[in-house]
Amino acid sequence: MRQVAFHRPSIGPEEEREVLDTLRSGWITTGPKAKRFEKEFAEYVGAKHALAVAHCTGALHLALWALGIGPGDEVITTPFTFTATAEILGYLGARPVFVDIDPGTFNINPARIEEALESGANKKVRALLPVHFAGQTCDMDRILKIARDYDLKIVEDAAHAAGSARHMDGRGMAKVGAIGDLTCFSFYATKNFTTAEGGMITTEDDALAEKIAVASLHGMNKDAWKRYDQSGSWYYEIHDLGFKYNLSDVHAAIGVAQLKRSDEFMRRRTEIARAYSDAFRADESLQAPYSEPGIEHAWHLYVLRLRPERLRIGRNQFVEILRERGVGCSVHCIPLHTMHYYQRSYGYRNGDFPVAEDVFSRCFSLPIYYAMSDEDVNYVIETVLSIVRENRR
Ligand SMILES: Cc1ncc(COP(=O)(O)O)c(C=O)c1O
Repeated sequence: MRQVAFHRPSIGPEEEREVLDTLRSGWITTGPKAKRFEKEFAEYVGAKHALAVAHCTGALHLALWALGIGPGDEVITTPFTFTATAEILGYLGARPVFVDIDPGTFNINPARIEEALESGANKKVRALLPVHFAGQTCDMDRILKIARDYDLKIVEDAAHAAGSARHMDGRGMAKVGAIGDLTCFSFYATKNFTTAEGGMITTEDDALAEKIAVASLHGMNKDAWKRYDQSGSWYYEIHDLGFKYNLSDVHAAIGVAQLKRSDEFMRRRTEIARAYSDAFRADESLQAPYSEPGIEHAWHLYVLRLRPERLRIGRNQFVEILRERGVGCSVHCIPLHTMHYYQRSYGYRNGDFPVAEDVFSRCFSLPIYYAMSDEDVNYVIETVLSIVRENRR
């Protein structure tokens, strides 16, 4: 039986060369390779500053900390995300105000953001934290307008969205990373391109960039990493409260090589998404993901929904049969407001966000990555369709 893993990173000779170059250079933690990765990533998304960090969780924490979000503050975000998006608000003593998602894109619904702001229930909202779910960009024109109207900052969780772009009013296509105040990326092992573990923050704001660069390495003055270098000095100053969120040169070396291949990775993901949607669109038991016009979708995830009224089995059983037949899949995401921690800490309850709960109850994510062969893609399609045929109501 064919086996198709849910994900496999594409690591080749370019990555090996860059990592060996760093290992042999005599400097393996944050240094010249991380600086190069920052510069090349900033060019890639069209941002003024890019700051490499250890992971997207740290990026989100630093971004909200740099904006001064603290105890008692509220931040509006989506429950349909990985816990990292909201857990960092707990680090800061701030409260996540969840609002429901759009049933087509699975992204935060701007109308629900406006309702939350107008309701009078959330008087301490200081920022919006949209997540570009699966690599499909949020409606940033509307979100920027809301932020302007209510004097809020925007931190974008772009863990899924390196390479995504969107048509913006009066501006044309803009890549994610060059839209909001601060944008946070993940290079975790399963992401569209990877550094094994890693993250990046982009911004146009010089002061925020400086503050984050200093805070990401213990609050030491910038370039303190050079203190062991012949050109450096043993003396360093601590300017601010800091964190240990720097990205090592070994990780950055993988990133430098992966970034060069990122457009090629994205092309293949788009091809696979198209093949899946062409095969599934016509089947009345399945609901292929909606892809908005005017965007470049990074296709980090391909999230398929079942129509339970048409099938004799539910999502869990469907996923189990796929696994038995060699197709690795996963479920994105378990809505945060249904989890113990979020219910205990913030009083959320099952039923609070019906759209997120409905999507979760019938969705699963299929394999989608550069290293998949056409045979793998066809096998996934045939396996999904055969399970549907065997279980139609
Ligand atoms: C939406 C979202 N935000 C943040 C993160 C955290 O990323 P990292 O593992 O780089 O900290 C993830 C990780 O999967 C994610 O899916």
